[in-house]
Parts: sequence; structure tokens; C-alpha cells
Amino acid sequence: MLSGKKILVGVTGSIAAYKAILLVRLLIKAGAEVKVIMTPSAKDFVSPLTFSTLSKNEVLIDLFNETSWANHVNLGRWADVMLIAPLSCNTLAKMANGFCDNLLLAIYLSATCPVIVAPAMDEDMWHHPSTKLNIDKIRSFGNNIIPVDNGELASGLFGDGRMAEPAQIMQYLHNFFFESNELAGKKVLITAGPTHEAIDPVRFISNHSSGKMGVSIAEEFAGRGADVTLILGPSDIDVSKNIHTVKVTSAQEMYDACMNNFSKIDITVMAAAVADYMPQNFSLKKIKKTENVFTLSLKKTNDILKQLGEQKNKDQIIVGFALETNNEKENALSKLEKKNIDLIVLNSLNDEGAGFGTDTNKIAIFDKHGNEFHFEKKSKKLVAKDIVNTIIQYKNV
Ligand code: CTP
Repeated sequence: MLSGKKILVGVTGSIAAYKAILLVRLLIKAGAEVKVIMTPSAKDFVSPLTFSTLSKNEVLIDLFNETSWANHVNLGRWADVMLIAPLSCNTLAKMANGFCDNLLLAIYLSATCPVIVAPAMDEDMWHHPSTKLNIDKIRSFGNNIIPVDNGELASGLFGDGRMAEPAQIMQYLHNFFFESNELAGKKVLITAGPTHEAIDPVRFISNHSSGKMGVSIAEEFAGRGADVTLILGPSDIDVSKNIHTVKVTSAQEMYDACMNNFSKIDITVMAAAVADYMPQNFSLKKIKKTENVFTLSLKKTNDILKQLGEQKNKDQIIVGFALETNNEKENALSKLEKKNIDLIVLNSLNDEGAGFGTDTNKIAIFDKHGNEFHFEKKSKKLVAKDIVNTIIQYKNV
């Protein structure tokens, strides 16, 4: 079921480390390729030999060792997923604060793959405010948290904090890779790309949007079983066949396509960089360069997001985007309110690797209840996951 998936299992110093043995066995049985890294204190609970025998790979522990030093970058790139199970309270705190005093943390910090953690601790530790803060913090970095179980703990007490059982972790991984159908039956409308506002038959006004962010969001929703309609401005990006794609050129065409679809939609994400202005007059003939100074009059396009916000019913969720260069949060919040939408995704052009044209993005999301979520710079595919997860979380509030 996980055939060919490359899984980097991180084992930390927790009594639940014994469950990681069964987990590695299940992963191998499911066809995954597994490499194990342990923190030095994990060795006090289980033997590296057990993991190397099961995974048929060397187990790495030391940060400063000739082979493992270079490996910390390679391993995070090799893996399809890094799975830290069990995640101890100590490693959690270090992850939340960027510590790098062992190989596992060095790999975590340099990993480009998604990271999933299965925390394990005693109930009181689990409920301590600092643990809650650390969990929220690593979640905001884009890490995926497998919920803890309730049951008998190593202390003999009963309560929350048990690491999820290996079989549950396997299920989580399966859902993670092959996507659950959690959004089956939901109708989602996404806009993406720039728009072209024609001046004459050969010229237009536009912007640098590539459409990558919006298409990644559409793919992410479709992967979770949603019925996705993508209204795509001029863009070369290939879109999966299971996404109903409507190609448009101008802001007016995007507006018409959105209006035609909106009434039956549950979730709308306006990721398109719609032109705010269009030429007041379109010249049927190519404009000749007869004038020394040429003045073009522009008029406002329809603000699609604002109009959808005015029409939306209480069950519909609308998400807008704000690309800002200054007073970022203030401007984003003002758009959230003025356009009567539920969430706004902010990218700041001041952040390197954010915004147009790049393969990465760095976002913050604000919702209308005053919550805010900040994320690290990551690939647009992973940013799309964060956006979809935040929308799902918002919907369940
Ligand atoms: N948007 C839209 N229709 C437009 C313009 C923008 O639906 N005609 C949407 C975008 O898809 C995005 C959000 O509105 O989700 C961006 O808000 P907007 O106020 O247009 O931002 P800016 O264009 O940056 O506006 P300003 O120059 O005022 O900051």
C-alpha cells in the first residue's frame, strides 16, 4: 500500500519508542523504503540494531560523523515524508525553537519533504501550556500532527498523551499519500492566473502571475475528493483532468464564469491576480504610433471577490488573497472586512521567495474571527496544503 514510498523515521527518547519497532515493520511490509534516525537518548529505550535489521539500512544517530554530516541535507531531500514517532516533549520543544543539537533535528530543519509527528508524553506534560504552544508553533510551520491517544500511560495513569498506535499511524500515512475523501461532495471554485485586458487586437495589460498557486490549491482540493471548478486566466500550466477547468482571458470573462458557478459552490478561493483596471475603450484596429505621448484611459474592472462576498450565504466560505508591499497585515485585514469574506491569505512581496512567478511562497492567513496563522516559506504545493487545512479547520470551528 505504500509501495516505493521513501519514509524517514525519526525516533526520539520516549518509552513509546518500542512502538516504533512495530511501525517500521509495518512500513516495510507495506512496501515502503525506510531509513531510521534516532536521537542519542532514543538508544536508551530501543536498540539501533533492531531498526537497522528491520529497515535493512544503517541507523544514523550522530551529528558529527563523516557520513552522517553530509547526510542531514541528503536525507531530508531523499524522503517523501519524515515521520517522527514517537515525538518526545524535549524534541518537540527543540523543533519549536529551531534547536539543532543532534542529527534528527539537523535533518528536520533542512528537510524539504513534509513532516509528520506522533507525539508521546504523559498526560500532565501533554496538557502543559508550553507543550500546547509548541504544538501550535510546529503546526504553524506546516508540520502535520497525529493526534495523541487516550489510555494507559507509562506512569500508570490514564489520560491523554499516548502515542497513536502503529496501525493508526499507517492509516494516517495512507490518507496523507493517497488523500482521504474528506471533502467528497463539496463543491469548490478556484480562480487562478492573471487576466489580460485588451488594448487593441495585439496588446494587453496584465501582471506577472503564473497561476501556480491557484492551480496547486485546485489540485489539493481535488486530491481530497472535492468537486473542483477552476477558472483559469491565461497560463501554460497543465491541470489534472479531474478538475473542471474553464479558461478565460479577461477580468470580465472571469467575473462571468464565477457568477455562473457561484450559487452551487461551498468553498471559493480567489487566488487569481485579476486586473484592477481595463482600458476604457478597446480599439478594433491596431493602434498606430502616431502620437509622441500616448494616454490610455483605464476603468475599474468588477471586483469579483467583493461581489461574491455580497452574495454569499451563511454556509458559503470565501477566501481571498492579498499581495502587499507595505502595511501588510493592516491591508489584508481591511480587505477581509470590506469584501465580507471568511479568510484572507497574505503574501508579502517583501518576503524573498513569496508571490508571483516563484515555485515557493510564504503566507499568513487571517480569518474573520481574529485568528491568524503564519507559515514558513515552502513549495507552492505545500502552501496549498496549509491553505486547505486552514479552511477545513475554520469550517469546523
Ligand atoms: N480580486 C477580484 N476582482 C478584482 C480584483 C481582485 O476578485 N477585480 C480578488 C483577487 O483574486 C484577490 C483579492 O481580490 O483574492 C485581492 O484584493 P484587491 O483589493 O484586488 O487587491 P489589490 O489588487 O492588491 O488591491 P489594492 O491595489 O487596492 O491593494
